[in-house]
Amino acid sequence: MKFGILGALPQEVALIKRCMTAHRSVVVGTRTFHEGEWGGRRIVLALSRVGKVSAALTTTLLLERFGVDRVIFTGVAGALDPRLRPGDVVIADRLLQHDMDARPIFPRFEVPLLNRSEFPAALAPEAEAAARAYIAGALEAEIPAERRAAFGIATPSVRRGLVISGDQFVGGAAQAAALRGLQPDALGVEMEGAAVAQVCHEMGGVPAAIVRVISDRADGSAAVDFQRFVDDIAEYLTGGIVRVMLER
Ligand code: ADE
Repeated sequence: MKFGILGALPQEVALIKRCMTAHRSVVVGTRTFHEGEWGGRRIVLALSRVGKVSAALTTTLLLERFGVDRVIFTGVAGALDPRLRPGDVVIADRLLQHDMDARPIFPRFEVPLLNRSEFPAALAPEAEAAARAYIAGALEAEIPAERRAAFGIATPSVRRGLVISGDQFVGGAAQAAALRGLQPDALGVEMEGAAVAQVCHEMGGVPAAIVRVISDRADGSAAVDFQRFVDDIAEYLTGGIVRVMLER
């Protein structure tokens, strides 16, 4: 088994890149793929960059050029469920592109000619178990106390459900409320997961996990909260959960 590991920003995969054993790096176009091992598994780590096209390209290359047969995307998301706080973990078990709209030819959110608007992430149960194990076990030892304190992180909650993706940073209360109105079940919003899930679906049902840590509440302070979270703490949670997942 070979795992493709993806994150959108360098900060989100910094711990993985530092801690993995890399055997070689391969450049394809504007992407660099790091082949090696981590958590006792063969992995290929890549930075997807931001947005659905970037994520789709990187996922496709992982599958076609590097022969991965499992995909894990890890990173941060904005909360749409009002009970979620920064540091909480959201595991997507289905994903939807909230900016897909080919009406009146096709129903809103449906990906034309695929007859579906949601794409599954089959490794969600494994990802949820890993997140719970990481939080109960390694979190306290691995995240420096002052960083945990700065973000008020003690025992993050873990939720599994719908995550929505679009080529927009959601940084306003009205924008977030509109998305909640359209997708009341959505736990969080980000910019890549549904593209990764669609590619995995279309390439033969490759099992995928989309692991997201809440960085902000998609409101007026989202941009500031997001940047601080990404710069100061995201890598511990995103990397730690993936490591536990690989080790199991
Ligand atoms: N990723 C993290 N926070 C986000 C937000 N508010 N909107 C879109 N993607 C995000």
